[in-house]
Amino acid sequence: MGLRKILTVDESALHKTCREVTSFDWKLHKLLKDMKDTLEEADGVGLAAPQVGILRRVVVVDTGEEILELVNPTLVETSGEQTGAEGCLSVPGKYGLVTRPSYAKVRAQDRDGNWFEAEGEGLTARCFCHELDHLDGIVFTEVMDRFLTEEELKNPE
Ligand code: NI
Repeated sequence: MGLRKILTVDESALHKTCREVTSFDWKLHKLLKDMKDTLEEADGVGLAAPQVGILRRVVVVDTGEEILELVNPTLVETSGEQTGAEGCLSVPGKYGLVTRPSYAKVRAQDRDGNWFEAEGEGLTARCFCHELDHLDGIVFTEVMDRFLTEEELKNPE
């Protein structure tokens, strides 16, 4: 297991624009492996490289069926709208009310540089948007309506 330390929102790496990946080498493969291990250990849905201090455009997303590796991802299509609770491994214990598309399609490269597309609805669409925001230094607290209260978290509608 290659676990990496998850940085919290007070650290500068979470607020920087990440650079494109240009080398699809063993270092990228090790990063992806470590990010997947770290995501599973933290029981999260998605993780972006800046959250482990690497300012490169790499994210992993657990779709419920598999953990997708997205290198240099961009949103190519979105539709609909969903407003709901959203959290982040870098903002432990807090959740905000965030509006996101209900469907999202991303185009990305795999670990060897091959381009592909992936689409998702609901939580996966939310996660694509959340993780891609991280690559531009944006944390959900900057796009949320407000934090959810303890009461709201205990009694979700
Ligand atoms: Ni996050």
